Amino acid sequence: MITLRLDDGLTTETTTTADLLIIGKGRDPVALHDADGSVAAVLEALRRPTTWQQLRAHGPFAAGRIDALIRRLLTAGVLILGCADENGDLATARIRSRLAELRPDAEPADDQPVQLSPCALLRRLDDRAVVESAHDGTVVELHRPELAAVVAGLCAPIDAAAVARLAPGGSQLLRLLAAVGLVTAPGPAAGRPTHAVWTHTRSRNGLVELRTPAPGTLDEPPAGPAADTDIALPVPDQAALRRTDPPLAEVMETRRSVRRFGDKPLAVAQLGELLHRVARIQQRLPADPADERSYSYTLRPAPSAGAMHELDYYLTVRACHGLAPGVYRYLPDRHALAVVNRDTVPLVRLVNAAYLAINRVSVPQVLISLAARFDRPTRKYGDLAYSLTLRNAGVALQSVYLCATAMGLGACAVGSGDAADFAEASGLDPHEVSAVAEIVIGSLPGQDV
Ligand SMILES: Cc1cc2nc3c(=O)[nH]c(=O)nc-3n(C[C@H](O)[C@H](O)[C@H](O)COP(=O)(O)O)c2cc1C
Repeated sequence: MITLRLDDGLTTETTTTADLLIIGKGRDPVALHDADGSVAAVLEALRRPTTWQQLRAHGPFAAGRIDALIRRLLTAGVLILGCADENGDLATARIRSRLAELRPDAEPADDQPVQLSPCALLRRLDDRAVVESAHDGTVVELHRPELAAVVAGLCAPIDAAAVARLAPGGSQLLRLLAAVGLVTAPGPAAGRPTHAVWTHTRSRNGLVELRTPAPGTLDEPPAGPAADTDIALPVPDQAALRRTDPPLAEVMETRRSVRRFGDKPLAVAQLGELLHRVARIQQRLPADPADERSYSYTLRPAPSAGAMHELDYYLTVRACHGLAPGVYRYLPDRHALAVVNRDTVPLVRLVNAAYLAINRVSVPQVLISLAARFDRPTRKYGDLAYSLTLRNAGVALQSVYLCATAMGLGACAVGSGDAADFAEASGLDPHEVSAVAEIVIGSLPGQDV
């Protein structure tokens, strides 16, 4: 039997406008219209576990209205769906989105084959075992570890009657999972991969309530000391660029992905100009001492969520006039390059992978890898951070594309970067810093002299 009950610790208040407010610690109040006190009566009934059918049969409303009220309460997160036996809760479900697919009447017949939804994820949430819907964030908490065997048993098609034999409480859990759309008719996993669905779900409000951690310090990392080996890059003449650059309209209209490069490679002055125009630090701004939520940050030519600028430009240079082959990191404070790795093997791996990705048309001259320092945006944005980092990377790629076009260089984004190659070449811990986007740049053919 699947029951509904009001979450613990909730209180109700009436207001002068006859609205009923449901208030709970750490959550937004839920406002309901309740002119005649009937909603309050339903809420009172929901202080004890009650079935949807009982509410329909004995509640003060017609079935359609009680259904709408229960859906509203469930999707506002104030009601818990659950199943229990004489020893207490077996499993409880919390709905986190108005888009959740609820099937309160789902009751698979004994001979009905069922299977776990491909969007169900059995995982640890804090110190609890949960089955989570990648689709809509619904979380079913398993209060008995042995119920994980039911989830495992549901991975292959199975008759509902057989589920009861997987563990005590199996058929109850099956009904609960079916009620929240986590068990369906058997079938192949169609549609988007589960991780893609989950990433989307966990990066949008309205699907799950995003977890944003207490920020702590979010200050922009300091520039760090200069090293003797740093290579200063030529600074372009911005005033001259404003006079000589093609108009934006022309750049936007003529930009194309270029996979064929010239025989004579681009020069270090061009590489420096491009980096200066898309990635240098233009301004450092301090935290506001009067605002404890503020932090120091930088402004650069491209936008970045929260001005986090967590993306660093790593350059794998195969051929650039005036710069030895190697892997370098751009230092946006000093407009210089730091030598990261001069070994041939990791360099060749990165260049070869990019060569294959751009259909083996030309061997890239320079590969730019945008590597994210994951920690800082995660401390500010929590669940949302990774999706913002990918958006920041998209912004950076387009900046490189447009600047390269304006400069008469070729550029082509690479969609298939290799995390292991980058970790090897950079020597960085891939869980802390990893490349999330790549783009190759080089001279155009026909410009050789
Ligand atoms: C994120 C992203 C990844 C891409 N990955 C590749 C790639 O791996 N190989 C390639 O040849 N082109 C790649 N491209 C370039 C696209 O194929 C190209 O933008 C598209 O065909 C449209 O052509 P256009 O850029 O000339 O307008 C990528 C583009 C983007 C934005």
